Amino acid sequence: MSSIWEETARLPKFPSPDKDLKTDVLVIGGGISGILTAYFLEQKGVDYILVEKGRICSGVTKNTTAKITYQHNLIYNKLLKNNDADLASEYLNANKKAFNMYKKLCANIDCDYEIKNNYVYTLDAPDKIEKEISALNKIGYKAEFKNTLKLPFDIAGAICFPEQAQFHPLKFLSEISKNLNIYENTFIKEMIGNTAVADNIKIKADKVIVTTHFPFINKHGAYYLKLYQDRSHVIALENAQDVDGMYIDENTNGLSFRNYKDLLLIGGGAHRTGKDGCNWEKLRKFANLKYPNAKEVCHWATQDCMSLDSMPYIGHYSKRTLDLYTASGFNKWGMTGSMLAADILCDMVCGEKNEYSDVFSPSRSILHPQLLINGFEAAVNLMTFSKKRCPHLGCALKWNSDEHTWDCPCHGSRFEENGKLINNPANGDLKI
Ligand code: FES
Repeated sequence: MSSIWEETARLPKFPSPDKDLKTDVLVIGGGISGILTAYFLEQKGVDYILVEKGRICSGVTKNTTAKITYQHNLIYNKLLKNNDADLASEYLNANKKAFNMYKKLCANIDCDYEIKNNYVYTLDAPDKIEKEISALNKIGYKAEFKNTLKLPFDIAGAICFPEQAQFHPLKFLSEISKNLNIYENTFIKEMIGNTAVADNIKIKADKVIVTTHFPFINKHGAYYLKLYQDRSHVIALENAQDVDGMYIDENTNGLSFRNYKDLLLIGGGAHRTGKDGCNWEKLRKFANLKYPNAKEVCHWATQDCMSLDSMPYIGHYSKRTLDLYTASGFNKWGMTGSMLAADILCDMVCGEKNEYSDVFSPSRSILHPQLLINGFEAAVNLMTFSKKRCPHLGCALKWNSDEHTWDCPCHGSRFEENGKLINNPANGDLKI
């Protein structure tokens, strides 16, 4: 079950440290957020180290669908409805900045970067599309209603953001990471003050940035209340269709589409990690119906951290941790989210002003309906009888028969059948 990106890229290898180390800035986590942060620190001449528990990009980064866009489903109407126009406008501008940073970097990297239109469509709720267009127009972005798309079914409406982009994330990161100060196979198990402790060595740092997908330190920031994880699935088809764009259904149960070379990638089957879902079955049924001559060449699944208010958490880990930072909760928009995070965190640790640091501060209000849902899920699963308990905070694990894994419905940790940790926030294996 490897993604098309893993099958078609080769990442550089890095050593692991054999003695204690000291640095100005320690980045923990070698996915796209950590690597981009390290890249910008390198550009600024900062003394830094990035450590990754396994190989770089071996977590969620390798499983993205790699769409670079500032059209994040129907977020602008949501932000406008729940906040003032300034927040929606800042969100748009921040993500446009991230988009442009990719454009500049990708111009010199062979990473299959292509300009494509991005579309959000609906099958049955044109009013939602109209409201999003009106919200966008209010914050100064001209958006238009579309009646038809190059997809094999009718739609009830869509919005187009022209000239967005798609790329090959691992080819990009292979090039970006190759001269960085990275250590692999260095699993940080705990932090004691500003010292990161791995099995055999310690790393002392003035400032620490945690980019471990789900922030792994429990005692600050209450991320176990602020985040949950969502799983979604992808199949890659040969001999299907050139859809000439990137598409996503506004309905969370819907499908997404993009091409990679002559393959069609279809995403969907989303559900909270640890809950039942239709996984790849729904995608295969759709493919059989619409592309009967197509052949599936690979399939994979990804996992996203979802915040309470649909915006990422980027900045100080908590109000009280002035030398500890994090980035998480990209809500399935991890390409622009990770670039934004790298830009903001790099400026913050260098003591420079970043115009968007307040917008994404993890210390903003947590009073949102999702907080109650997260609390309810945790309470139910803590009280559920099961011999298999999650080493994170003790919730009952669920067996995922499609992927042969133990999954946690509370915060999304996952383990192989033999107990080996796959996804955090748990920071160690499950004892079988
Ligand atoms: Fe938190 Fe399992 S991931 S209890």
